[in-house]
Amino acid sequence: MATKKTVAVVGATGAQGGGLVRAILNDPQGGFTARALTRDVNSDKAKKLAELGAEVVAANVDDLASLERAFQGAYGAFCVTFFWEHFSPEKELAEATNMAQAAKRAAIQHVIWSTLEDTRKWVPLSDVRMPTLKGKYKVPHLDAKGEANQVFTDLGLPVTFLLTSFYWDNFIYFGMGPKKGADGKLALTLPLDDKKLPGIAAEDIGRCAYGIFKRGHELIGNTVGIAGEHLTGAQMAAAFSKALGTEVVYNAVPHAVYRSFGFPGADDLGNMFQFKCDFNEYFCGARNPETARALNSSLESFEHWLAQNKSRIPLGE
Ligand SMILES: NC(=O)c1ccc[n+]([C@@H]2O[C@H](COP(=O)([O-])OP(=O)(O)OC[C@H]3O[C@@H](n4cnc5c(N)ncnc54)[C@H](OP(=O)(O)O)[C@@H]3O)[C@@H](O)[C@H]2O)c1
Repeated sequence: MATKKTVAVVGATGAQGGGLVRAILNDPQGGFTARALTRDVNSDKAKKLAELGAEVVAANVDDLASLERAFQGAYGAFCVTFFWEHFSPEKELAEATNMAQAAKRAAIQHVIWSTLEDTRKWVPLSDVRMPTLKGKYKVPHLDAKGEANQVFTDLGLPVTFLLTSFYWDNFIYFGMGPKKGADGKLALTLPLDDKKLPGIAAEDIGRCAYGIFKRGHELIGNTVGIAGEHLTGAQMAAAFSKALGTEVVYNAVPHAVYRSFGFPGADDLGNMFQFKCDFNEYFCGARNPETARALNSSLESFEHWLAQNKSRIPLGE
């Protein structure tokens, strides 16, 4: 049997990377093996990946030498950054640069960079429709990812840019699920107007990334945008109502109101939703569910995801 190709997966104990590791390990005849990168090889999550059959190695995206060691001998590398760990776009750009440099030095043959738009190409800092944040960003947690694309390109890496979508898992982990209002009714509060939000089950991102690696060289140099479905707030609320068996209403709030909610990152997310609304045709067009399904035949619909996950969604006040 031919030697399997190793994919080094950053963020392997997390949502995107974890999905990729599981996709590789669930396909033993697929020709790939997974090398899971983690800061702590002894954590429960890391041990679980080892039990599943992953090679687990220590690496920190802030430490170039550790990345070089972890990428050594691998065929592919999946690169992702972790904005919400530190809220710093500058740090995110530095971490992406470390991964790109490590991939270059390890002569990786196929890099997937999990990216998002540099929104300043659509909304220059001079545009007052949304506030400038952290001095030089419109949507900090998107902009530096998009800015980092150039780093991968400038190093001449064989890279596929993977444009991801809003995880439906945010309804479980990010406090975005329906909440009870003063009237006792559950409401899904989002600043989405009547626009569609490309969303995806986080696990499907890794499955799509695996589909990209399986295509060989075909998608190198391409940007691949993925989503499970494009849904309006009203459509998501209707799906919640059906899944939960109780009415959930859609509460559309203005972007400025969302920005003022006060939780960490509310201004960043308010700007993000405004970008998605103001450039809805572009944003949805760049994330085609059919593209995702062609890479990953088990792509989940929102209804299916909700049926599997509804009991995990906190329905707080
Ligand atoms: N939520 C959304 O809707 C959404 C949509 C699109 C894109 N994104 C982006 O997705 C990114 C996060 O990806 P994710 O959701 O897969 O992450 P995640 O589930 O939060 O997992 C992060 C994992 O990364 C590892 N990690 C954190 N800091 C690290 C470091 N310095 N060096 C090495 N590993 C580190 C941690 O593993 P160890 O503790 O094992 O080291 C952790 O398990 C963010 O940048 C976010 O902007 C999110």
